[in-house]
Amino acid sequence: MTERTLAIIKPDAVERHLAGKIIQRIEDEGFQIRAMRRIHLSAAQAEGFYAVHRARPFFTSLTQFMSSGPAIVLVLEAADAIKKWRTLMGATDPAKADAGTMRKEFAQSIERNATHGSDAPETAAYEIGYFFAGIDLI
Ligand code: CMP
Repeated sequence: MTERTLAIIKPDAVERHLAGKIIQRIEDEGFQIRAMRRIHLSAAQAEGFYAVHRARPFFTSLTQFMSSGPAIVLVLEAADAIKKWRTLMGATDPAKADAGTMRKEFAQSIERNATHGSDAPETAAYEIGYFFAGIDLI
């Protein structure tokens, strides 16, 4: 089933000029890019985006990192896009990520892990709506 997911190229990857390589890989793997924006989240916007993690010990550090510089948000479309993008990203912790995944190749740590992807259809709907209006998705 054709599905959409939200991807983020996180500030650590944008800062190191890895966006082009990551976007190339996204296209090579057969995703359609339905929308894309460069953003710089405020702390409050990062806290809203990651609200589900607010009780976690890493929440403050994570939201500070995510608001520390520009990031790129994308809506990706493909068959089974949510799982397909999470597989391409690899494990959250780059030390555990498989060879050839985005996080194995580009992440610096479990927090500065280069990319984000929605984890379920409901999350994808919320996360896409967080950055894009319906009119942006073409
Ligand atoms: P992401 O896929 O964006 O979802 C939540 C983020 O929290 C995750 O990637 C990491 O950047 C971060 N994260 C998850 N677990 C930890 C952890 N144990 N320590 C620090 N950051 C974490």
